[in-house]
Amino acid sequence: MNKRPRRIRQNEAIRSLVRETRLTPANLVYPVFVIEGKAKRESIASMPGIDRLSLDLLAEDAKECLRLGIPALALFPAIVSTKKDPQATESTNPAGLIPRAIQAIKSAVPEMIVITDVAMDPYSSDGHDGLVKDGKVLNDETLPILAQMALSQAKAGADFVAPSDMMDGRVAAIRTELDKGGFQETGIIAYTAKYASSFYGPFRDALDSAPKHGDKKTYQMDPANAREAIKELKLDIEEGADIVMVKPALPYLDIISMLRAESDVPVAAYHVSGEYAMIKAAAEKGWMDGEKVMLESLLSIKRAGADMIFTYFAKEAAKSL
Ligand code: PBG
Repeated sequence: MNKRPRRIRQNEAIRSLVRETRLTPANLVYPVFVIEGKAKRESIASMPGIDRLSLDLLAEDAKECLRLGIPALALFPAIVSTKKDPQATESTNPAGLIPRAIQAIKSAVPEMIVITDVAMDPYSSDGHDGLVKDGKVLNDETLPILAQMALSQAKAGADFVAPSDMMDGRVAAIRTELDKGGFQETGIIAYTAKYASSFYGPFRDALDSAPKHGDKKTYQMDPANAREAIKELKLDIEEGADIVMVKPALPYLDIISMLRAESDVPVAAYHVSGEYAMIKAAAEKGWMDGEKVMLESLLSIKRAGADMIFTYFAKEAAKSL
């Protein structure tokens, strides 16, 4: 044998020299759930290790992330049900939870990148990402609401707004509104290939944001489709997305690698709540080594082509790296 692949696997020093992919905290985004109140921390049964935090605790968390080398946070609001309505009115309140959360982070840790979610579901009494009429999720009528939501987040200091709603034309609507408001420098991370996935369950527990009726299949993508992700990619880039995203991550590595090959903008992947919960549950039972499986999962997402990864494991991964 003149070719022996094992020669370059002999020891950790050699393996380190030839390693193709490296995971670093610098590519991680930590998603956080925020609530009203002071010194409040609520655990989420299906996401062990992740809590809903009041804004004072959020500021502490942001400092810890900075120390760990995590450059960005993604914010998700848990809104009390009395503030939810069909128009998601609370989502454009300049004194709402998210604008105050952005300010809390920026005043504690000015260099932290803040990414905000643009979608109606946490604010909507219907629990859908768009406006509902006669049981249907309306597209064009939803766009101005999303654009106003993004504008109020930009005004509060968000670095990136991240539409996760999957309405057609939302990136263009948001870009236009941001530019009109003088926020040319606020970026857009588009949830480009967001699938109608069952892996979002624990997240919907965290925000109490599950749809009150029906499902999200008329706007989120069919898990069976790959080519369609290219169509979404082309539209999002044309409309002005700065970064595109695939979600969930591990079951959709083929989509990540396809978007990486087809696009000239950075690709993000969202390692979602259900992916987190599976690893945690198996580790709790002693069926897998949770830390190793976490690192292997994140590494694989990067190897597939993700430039950055949104993950609830961000702090744990940063610590073990
Ligand atoms: C809402 C939104 C969801 C997630 C991020 N933004 C849930 C959904 O679409 O129902 C899921 C994130 C996760 O599961 O970790 N627009």
